[in-house]
Amino acid sequence: MTEIPEHLLKRSQARRAAAGGEPDAAATAGAVPATVAGSTTAVPAKAAAPAKAAPAAPPPPKPDPPYIAAAKSRKKIPFWAMATLSLLPIWGFMYVQGLKPEKKVVAGPIGAGQKIYSSCALCHGGTGGGGVGRSFQEGSLQKTFPHIEDQLNLVYTGSQAYRDILNMPYGNPALNHLGYNGSFMPAQKTNLTQAQILAVVCHERYDLAGVDPEDPKWVKEYTLWCSPDSKVYAGLQDGSLTFDNISTKLKSDGVLPIGTVPRPGTAP
Ligand code: HEC
Repeated sequence: MTEIPEHLLKRSQARRAAAGGEPDAAATAGAVPATVAGSTTAVPAKAAAPAKAAPAAPPPPKPDPPYIAAAKSRKKIPFWAMATLSLLPIWGFMYVQGLKPEKKVVAGPIGAGQKIYSSCALCHGGTGGGGVGRSFQEGSLQKTFPHIEDQLNLVYTGSQAYRDILNMPYGNPALNHLGYNGSFMPAQKTNLTQAQILAVVCHERYDLAGVDPEDPKWVKEYTLWCSPDSKVYAGLQDGSLTFDNISTKLKSDGVLPIGTVPRPGTAP
């Protein structure tokens, strides 16, 4: 058996005395379990264990290490700052939005026409590539309608009316456009104002058809009808010009009749 050094024994006894237990409680409990097992004194034998385990005074709590103490004593976020901080995500969102390049806003009839065109895209395609309706791309509109007045008339009256009333093609007669795979262009006179019809026609001729407005062949038409300070668009908007009076009012600008009923188109 290992011998326990004297000083350790003494310390152990002193501790036990301080804890209120008998100096040999552990020894008794360990030595006599067989004798007490059957008797009614089994309970005190068990109770000796908690008595031994319970220390008189819990050891004083360890002082916090300096970094915990610093964290505890540090000032917290003041309550009023929480309002500001809670807006941070919104600020972040707006900041990122601000970094995105601004969408180019086109002024005048072309800009307005871009929005109106969504009602045409169903048949003519989002970029004018065609579908149920004809394609507008690669300058084809300038070929069908060498004069913008003819295109305005067709969109206003629709090609069904050309067949029903005139039974002759719209636009440039040489192209013989009337009916496309059995479909006809629906009239827009009840859907759009005359100013809106000009707007969408400008979008078709100068965005979708891909014709350069600065091209010497088209710059005059573009300036008068489709530029941001188009005099025709302004007149249609304020009501001083209509498809019926425009050729008289703007005779000096060489404007041809538009009209509100189908009429033979003009050759280039
Ligand atoms: C329901 C389908 C449909 C919708 C919607 C439609 N179109 Fe058309 N469009 C046609 C068809 C079909 C033709 C061919 C007509 C023909 O040949 O008789 C056509 C022809 C045209 C043409 C003549 C093209 C050429 O070169 O001959 C123009 C211009 C035109 N549409 C403009 C418009 C505009 C502007 C809108 C919207 C405001 C629009 N279309 C909405 C079906 C449609």
